[in-house]
Amino acid sequence: SSSKILIKGGTVVNAHHQEIADVYVEDGIIVAVRPNIKVGDDITVLDATGKFVMPGGIDPHTHLEMEFMGIDQTIDDFFSGQAAALAGGTTMHIDFVIPVGGSLTAGFEAYEKKAKKSAMDYGFHVAITKWDDTVSKEMEIMVNEKGINSFKFFMAYKGILMVNDELLLEGFKKCKSLGALAMVHAENGDAVFEGQKRMIELGITGPEGHALSRPAVLEGEATARAIRLAAFVNTPLYVVHVMSIDAMEEIAKARKSGQKVIGEPVVSGLVLDDSGLWDTDFVTAAKYVMSPPIRAAGHDKALQAALSRGILQLVGTDHCAFNSTQKSLGIDDFRKIPNGVNGIEERMHLVWDTMVESGQISVSDYVRITSTECARIFNIYPRKGAILAGSDADIIILNPNSSFEISANTHHSRTDTNIYEGRRGKGKVEVTIAGGRIVWVNNELTVTPGSGKYVKMPPFSYLFEGIDKTDAIYLSSLRAPAKRYRSTE
Ligand code: URP
Ligand code: ZN
Ligand code: ZN
Ligand code: ZN
Repeated sequence: SSSKILIKGGTVVNAHHQEIADVYVEDGIIVAVRPNIKVGDDITVLDATGKFVMPGGIDPHTHLEMEFMGIDQTIDDFFSGQAAALAGGTTMHIDFVIPVGGSLTAGFEAYEKKAKKSAMDYGFHVAITKWDDTVSKEMEIMVNEKGINSFKFFMAYKGILMVNDELLLEGFKKCKSLGALAMVHAENGDAVFEGQKRMIELGITGPEGHALSRPAVLEGEATARAIRLAAFVNTPLYVVHVMSIDAMEEIAKARKSGQKVIGEPVVSGLVLDDSGLWDTDFVTAAKYVMSPPIRAAGHDKALQAALSRGILQLVGTDHCAFNSTQKSLGIDDFRKIPNGVNGIEERMHLVWDTMVESGQISVSDYVRITSTECARIFNIYPRKGAILAGSDADIIILNPNSSFEISANTHHSRTDTNIYEGRRGKGKVEVTIAGGRIVWVNNELTVTPGSGKYVKMPPFSYLFEGIDKTDAIYLSSLRAPAKRYRSTE
């Protein structure tokens, strides 16, 4: 396809503003956004009349080609996962580097290699799974040389990835000093371990045991603990995959008090509940196994409401797909079912249908929660997350009057199942443009391995504004009550 594209007559939507305008793209960059742009004939023209022209989705949370829970790798690699993303209107994702033998550098190099076949732009978070001087030094290298500005700490997965409070504190302090964002998987891993033992003792070995062993109270506890430790260290915090009212309310409370806490719900938690999920055959049930688990009805609607009110800020997928053979590793014991669900292809459609089509949020808010806020948090706005002159040409055209239908028979992921099987809705991504290339049009995908670029993310995002690096004010506020106490003795 041509390197010059004119998108004519659509409603151009940004997070703060919308207008009817043309968008002109040249060599991967948006050159102009205004009504009635005149160009020559050597140009691909797309008519967007009656449709929305929006920034491509940015998925802040994916696991492509990840080694996890005894499985060599998740079923989607950087090519197939991105192909699925592009067919669903997502043009960038941020994946999680898992250290190799505790080494961040080795982990980063391994992911760099995997991502060489990328068909769209991508960035990385880096997980911290142990603590020593080497890790601390490697965090500096990651931020100062490798384009990393976020680190994830798993408070669950005991014996594999889990960290304790001492490590959380060391890690949070280091994040603060580097201007990097601390992210947490918030579930109490010790309590989950106890819950799993109880289920097995009761003879509950099926997929329902997974959900029963890790109730919402354990997500609430860990979320509250992470929030308080981040407050103690005075650094911003990002809570990934918020799946429960319990966790959401802790985030709401902290934000109300002025603490910088970001909450990321994922599509599965927003649109699914556990009604009837486990009353079926193993393979059908096992495909829904993820952590934190899909909750009882009510949590989903509460998370939607929190998102519409700005208590939660952006939507991820936690795309971590396994096929039925991989899921069947846990046929006799739910503890061995690899955790994770699909979503990278479905996010833009399901969020549109659930939040915009239902009337809960505006189209501008849709752009904010699927793209712009992610770009701001990870400090790549307005290169990403905006339809502005100078921004990367990552663009979707969505037809609000067309409909989508989800099925494993037609999706582009390599998984043989889909947790949204049979779901239909209003609003369809008809065109995806990634890096100035038309990759999805007329239900046809044209993706090129190696065409995606690594996006370096600089430290000290807006979340660090007003955070005192020396902690002088913060420390004096801690000392004040002790003085008052002595003076009344
Ligand atoms: O079940 C899940 N969420 N799998 C992916 C790993 C994680 O915890 O994010
Ligand atoms: Zn404007
Ligand atoms: Zn997680
Ligand atoms: Zn995840």
